[in-house]
Amino acid sequence: RHTLAQGGTLAGKTVVVTAGGTREAVDPVRYLGNRSSGKMGYELALAARDQGAAVKLIATTDLPASAGIEVIRVETAAEMLSAVQSAVKGAYALVMAAAVADYRPVAAATDKIKKGSGEFDLKLESTEDILSAVKGDFIRIGFAAETGDLIANAKKKLAAKNLDLIVANNVTVPGAGFGADTNKVTLLFKDGRVEDLPLMSKREVAERVMGEMAPGE
Ligand code: CTP
Ligand code: CA
Repeated sequence: RHTLAQGGTLAGKTVVVTAGGTREAVDPVRYLGNRSSGKMGYELALAARDQGAAVKLIATTDLPASAGIEVIRVETAAEMLSAVQSAVKGAYALVMAAAVADYRPVAAATDKIKKGSGEFDLKLESTEDILSAVKGDFIRIGFAAETGDLIANAKKKLAAKNLDLIVANNVTVPGAGFGADTNKVTLLFKDGRVEDLPLMSKREVAERVMGEMAPGE
C-alpha cells in the first residue's frame, strides 16, 4: 500500500492541481492575499507528472516550467473557479492545494486609495467555494490548514466538500505549512481512516498523496 506504483500508473489520466494563494484586488496597486507559497501544489504536480499523468496546474504564483505540466495562471478565487471548471472536464482527479480567499473586496477601487488618518473600512463579500461548486465524476482531494482542532475541522470539510481525501496540517507546528519545504500532515479518508504522517518533505507528501489515488491498488 505504501509503495508508490511504478511505471506511470496515472498514465493516460489528467490530474488537475491548484497551487498558491489567490489575490483579491483592493485597488490597482493592492490586494488581499495569504502566505501560501504554492510549493505543496507544485510538488503535487511534479509527483502526478512523474506517475505518468497529464497535469494541469492552476497556480497564482510563478513556478518553474516543467515538461508535462501545463501551467494556467490565475489571480483571484473567481478566476481559479472558472479555470478549474474548464480543466476538470474529463479529468481523473482534482487536487485543491491552493489557499483560496474566503472573502474579497465587494468592489476594487478604480483609483489608488489615498492615505487618510484614522480608521479605514473595507467591505468584503464571500467568494465561491470551488470544491463545493465543481461537480463531476473525478477523485476530489482537499487540503486543510488549521490552527485549532485539526481532526474535527478537517472531518467537517471532508464531508461538507464531498472529498475522497483531505490532507490536514497544523500550521503552527514548526517546519510545517506556509513557506516551509517540509510538512507534517494527517490524511483523513472518506471511509473514516485517519493516518498521521511524520514530518516529511513536501515532495514526499506529494508522492504519498498521488500514490493514494493511483488506480488498481
Ligand atoms: N477551498 C475551495 N474554495 C474556497 C476555499 C477553500 O475550494 N473558496 C478548498 C481549499 O483549496 C482546500 C479546502 O477547500 O482544499 C479547505 O480549505 P480551507 O480554507 O481549509 O476551508 P474552508 O472551507 O475555506 O473553511 P475555513 O477557511 O473557514 O476553515
Ligand atoms: Ca478558507
